Amino acid sequence: MLITVFGANGYQAKLVLGELSRHDVDLRLVGRNAERVDAAAAAVGIVGADRRVATAEDHTALVAALAGSDVVINCAGPFTGSGEAVVRAAIDVGAHYLDTSGEQLYLKSIFDTFAGAAEHAGVTVLPSANDGCVPTDLLAQLLAEQAGPFAEITISHVITGGGGPSRGSLRSVLATIDAMSMGGLAYDNGHWRTGLPARRSTVTLPDGRSVDVAGLPLCEVITIPRHVQVGYVEGVVEASLKAALGRPIPTELIQNLPEGPTELDRNRQRFTYVLDAVDPEGKPTRGVIQGTDTYGTTAVVAVEAARRLAAGESKPGVLAPAQAFDATGFLEALSHHGLSWTIDTDMA
Ligand SMILES: NC(=O)c1ccc[n+]([C@@H]2O[C@H](COP(=O)([O-])OP(=O)(O)OC[C@H]3O[C@@H](n4cnc5c(N)ncnc54)[C@H](OP(=O)(O)O)[C@@H]3O)[C@@H](O)[C@H]2O)c1
Repeated sequence: MLITVFGANGYQAKLVLGELSRHDVDLRLVGRNAERVDAAAAAVGIVGADRRVATAEDHTALVAALAGSDVVINCAGPFTGSGEAVVRAAIDVGAHYLDTSGEQLYLKSIFDTFAGAAEHAGVTVLPSANDGCVPTDLLAQLLAEQAGPFAEITISHVITGGGGPSRGSLRSVLATIDAMSMGGLAYDNGHWRTGLPARRSTVTLPDGRSVDVAGLPLCEVITIPRHVQVGYVEGVVEASLKAALGRPIPTELIQNLPEGPTELDRNRQRFTYVLDAVDPEGKPTRGVIQGTDTYGTTAVVAVEAARRLAAGESKPGVLAPAQAFDATGFLEALSHHGLSWTIDTDMA
């Protein structure tokens, strides 16, 4: 089983490589600078793995670098602009593809652009295999099996601690600042629309704390309606985070920041992702995902997904997580890494 990591010397990629090293897989590292890729391999303690040089912009070099892979894990953000080229090359070489993107419009464009090509090539394309999109999308499926169909779902992301975003995440914020400011796409009766004001302005967390929230382009807004019968889906985050993201750090200053949070900071971070669903009669249901360390969890999610794709667990096409994997089985696998989930269908 050959798993290739593209953008292999980035902060997230090194966590992915560390996670891959714990499994019996063959590895290939691809980046646009050989010295940086070698340094990343050394930093993770990888010796002897195949290494190639390619940029997303050079299709011929990219195809040569990805050829022979069973799965490509693309960690080269921002994905807006460069991601489609990597998807195209993976499909061309007949490899399954996944990435760690959190960029909502990019995710939608992958569904819109590559569905037919992926099916035709017999490969699975799974954009946004990250800490938020995969567990929340899978939980939405379990919620729907117990209490659906739904009139409305609100997805809330609340993160505390963690030492702040990586340089790559800050660049992705810059690349998508217009969508961030507008609140992103909401799903409204069969269509994704921009500019809809968020219906919820506060969310009560499982610990009883009430937080002010505001619309942000979350990826699950794109994936959940593909397998859950629902009229309306929106994504929100803490209003204070949205305000901070609206004042992005300029590119020249990002370069001077640490590449990402330290392991200590990551271990101190807590995330809570809440799915508040309401059925057509107004009955509420809630699903909650909780865990620690968003970047570490993304590495575990991406590697678990890659191994399942390589094992032939999924059908071809561009898929939402719950279309690709058994929801309970995947969430069980994540529970061994500190992720927990609950479903409450009997809310007062
Ligand atoms: N929940 C979420 O939404 C979530 C969670 C985790 C990660 N992410 C996303 O994952 C991405 C990676 O983050 P990070 O912190 O690892 O970023 P990073 O440290 O900046 O790493 C990005 C990597 O991609 C490479 N790259 C960028 N553009 C390229 C191109 N056109 N061709 C070839 N290589 C290219 C860079 O190469 P050079 O070193 O040569 O520049 C670098 O190796 C970000 O977009 C982040 O938002 C999202």
